[in-house]
Amino acid sequence: MEIDRKAFLDSLGGADGVKRMDAEARADALENRMMSELNSAVTAKKYPTAAEVEAQIETRPYRAGAGFLIVPRAGGNVKKLPPMPANPTLQDYFRLRFNDTANHVLQSANLAMKNGMSEEIVLACLLHDVVQEIMRTDHGWWGAQLFEPYVSEKVAFAIRYHQALRYYADPSVGYEYPDLYRELFGADYVPPPYIEATYQMVRKHKWYMEPRMVAVNDLYAFDPNVVVTIEPFLDIIGRHFKQPKEGLGNDGSPVAHMWRTISRPDQPL
Ligand SMILES: [Fe+2]
Ligand SMILES: [Fe+2]
Repeated sequence: MEIDRKAFLDSLGGADGVKRMDAEARADALENRMMSELNSAVTAKKYPTAAEVEAQIETRPYRAGAGFLIVPRAGGNVKKLPPMPANPTLQDYFRLRFNDTANHVLQSANLAMKNGMSEEIVLACLLHDVVQEIMRTDHGWWGAQLFEPYVSEKVAFAIRYHQALRYYADPSVGYEYPDLYRELFGADYVPPPYIEATYQMVRKHKWYMEPRMVAVNDLYAFDPNVVVTIEPFLDIIGRHFKQPKEGLGNDGSPVAHMWRTISRPDQPL
């Protein structure tokens, strides 16, 4: 750490003041100064403003809402994807397509399980962000739609509304506004009116705690050193996820095209 030499000397009464101090007093003064500068460096971590975040838009060749299968975070050229089985299951999508989101949602589901959440909340955690492979904007709504034909209404509710609840603290369950959002949206960001209205509606809903618990278990689920597999969740998937026998994407459901998009993101039309 570098300290401002002149400011430091001035604070001790200039060169004359320093001369009057013994070696120990000088060492103490230096240590105090370094500690206080370190503290202010930590507390003043600078987040961008919402205007600065907006100014980043025209610095990129893509839009931030694009999914990770479409525009990978890593940059550089994309890789050819492995073929999907004829009748793909949710596990096949985890194995072959949810490359960017699987670890995060598995960690989140793992945490929810450790925290003794219901099987429906664990499943919602397991599914809550995977739609970000194709679409990040409004991913709560897109995600709920992707899974709606195959899960209970409560699970779809938890997925849909976890997105809006992420912006609102709930001290009763120890949920704080995430620093990640200060970084992503800007320190002075105010969510748009539809997010605020959604929050107000969900806050009064009898199922409020379902999406709230997804948000709670989501927050701490970004540990790059923890690798969780899908095996511990297979029973829950078996009990709460209706796998179509034709395979996801082939079942003629209103969302089959979304699964096919995940399956074949290189298809130009
Ligand atoms: Fe999310
Ligand atoms: Fe998440």
